[in-house]
Amino acid sequence: MPAQDDASLPATELRRAALAALLEADCRRKAAATRALAAASQAGLACVPGQMLAEPPGVPGRPALPKLVAPGKVPRRRLSTPNGRAALVHALAHIEFNAINLALDAVWRFACMPEAFYRDWIVVAGEEALHFSLLQEHLERLGHAYGDFDAHDNLWSMAEKTAGDVLARMALVPRTLEARGLDASPAIRAKFAHSGDLQAAAIVDVILADEVGHVAIGNRWYRWLCAGQGLDPHRAYDDLVRRYHAPVLRPPFNFEARRRAGFDEAELEHLARSAAAIDETKTPLPES
Ligand SMILES: [Fe+2]
Ligand SMILES: [Fe+2]
Repeated sequence: MPAQDDASLPATELRRAALAALLEADCRRKAAATRALAAASQAGLACVPGQMLAEPPGVPGRPALPKLVAPGKVPRRRLSTPNGRAALVHALAHIEFNAINLALDAVWRFACMPEAFYRDWIVVAGEEALHFSLLQEHLERLGHAYGDFDAHDNLWSMAEKTAGDVLARMALVPRTLEARGLDASPAIRAKFAHSGDLQAAAIVDVILADEVGHVAIGNRWYRWLCAGQGLDPHRAYDDLVRRYHAPVLRPPFNFEARRRAGFDEAELEHLARSAAAIDETKTPLPES
């Protein structure tokens, strides 16, 4: 049994400090605190896995803007216009802001995992903070700021749905939502390059390289949890997708990046089959 919340623990302990960074509403301070925390973890900051922490109000901390709207209400803009390009950079910055929160949440929320679990997720949080900062700086070069465009809240809603289940969190956040980023990156990079924004294209390169590692960490801990619970990882994944209404994955898939991120051949074949099935439903039936 995990120990109950104990106020005597120093705030300099890794999981408590992750919760403090998660509560921070200012996006610059959150990114800076998260990167500092990742460095402190590397330098040996104490970590107490067996402490169950109570959830305070205000999780996650976020700024008043961007305004959060339904996914279908986020306006689509053409990348050929400067405003359209800024909107896409903003959408990516919003994903990375949520990704900081998701990784910090994994650190504080789930007690009694091996210490390496918390060390892994704080590394991820630090890299998400770097991604956010790179995009925020680029947004400023384009004459905008984070908060200028409406955004949706799909990513954090999956965190809420899986708050009580670390297996579902590993299955559906890194292995599903972050893995979708691997699939989307090549097309986004090409769009930026085509529009002449080579700085944005270079940022997408940095993000894709790091995200392979994040998905690999998700795969590692998902398989570790499945093994501990005597679950078949393939069947358990299908069950979790159904139970938590995870988004249906659609092609194109970045098989090469997914393979590097640790998906096995059976999982990649399953994706390839589902891509083929989606293609078939798009092909009109021959007239009889
Ligand atoms: Fe990221
Ligand atoms: Fe990530």
